[in-house]
Amino acid sequence: MAISGRAWITGASSGIGAAIAKMLAENGAKVVLSARRTEQLERLSQEIERANGQSMIRELDVTNREAVAQLGDELETMGGVDILINNAGLMPLSPMLEGRVDEWERMIDVNIKGLLYAIHAVLPGMARRKHGHIVNIGSVAGRFAFKGAAVYCGTKFAVRAISDSLRREVMECGIRVTDIEPGAVATELADSIKHEATKAAVTQEGGLYAPDAKILQAEDIASAILYVVSQPDHVNVSELLIRPRIQEL
Ligand SMILES: NC(=O)c1ccc[n+]([C@@H]2O[C@H](COP(=O)([O-])OP(=O)(O)OC[C@H]3O[C@@H](n4cnc5c(N)ncnc54)[C@H](OP(=O)(O)O)[C@@H]3O)[C@@H](O)[C@H]2O)c1
Repeated sequence: MAISGRAWITGASSGIGAAIAKMLAENGAKVVLSARRTEQLERLSQEIERANGQSMIRELDVTNREAVAQLGDELETMGGVDILINNAGLMPLSPMLEGRVDEWERMIDVNIKGLLYAIHAVLPGMARRKHGHIVNIGSVAGRFAFKGAAVYCGTKFAVRAISDSLRREVMECGIRVTDIEPGAVATELADSIKHEATKAAVTQEGGLYAPDAKILQAEDIASAILYVVSQPDHVNVSELLIRPRIQEL
């Protein structure tokens, strides 16, 4: 599949973001890899270049509004962003009664505000060129609310609402918007859970993220995104929910 143009992937240093970056680069996109952990980005960029792909890396914390806008401006001077993969996120689950308000704020800052800052950084350029695709990484947790995941679910419900509202707003401007909603994927995401009992429940035997759980691989989500962004211009796959075969909710 041939993807032309530039794709910016936030949170490209691991998991789903890294897999998408590799797959888009393999299929011809010039990829912009951003995240805070630059060593991982360097390694990924080298791997992409060894496979004759094109990439550039930028250290970026998506909670830094000015820095996100600056990167958007820089990319605009290079011809702009054709595809934004709004992927950076974290999931420090805990019961609300534990009152881990700092973690709630962090999820809101990264999963919602960071996503909005990146949209803001690319949207005017896309509208001017009447071309662009914004792919937001939501979650099955944006469709169903799980016990012990109130704030994480809240952020992903927000991603779904933002995606669909934005899609309606910009569809006449040549811009497509997609909400990708993965079920459980084997990545570092569960490492962000600091509440011990919750972490044990999801990562130990029988848990969704247990070492032997038959869940999705990051590449499964990357293939779905490749399908989404390679559709003809008149097709907008606006929402895609992808679960492991064995996952009830
Ligand atoms: N794994 C799952 O089961 C699953 C299911 C549904 C949805 N998702 C969603 O998929 C997305 C990717 O997660 P993943 O599963 O691939 O987990 P992951 O391996 O932990 O990746 C998370 C990425 O987000 C980045 N990130 C976190 N905070 C950031 C910040 N302040 N600024 C910039 N980047 C930041 C991390 O990069 P740095 O730390 O280097 O900055 C990392 O690259 C998330 O939005 C997550 O909610 C995952």
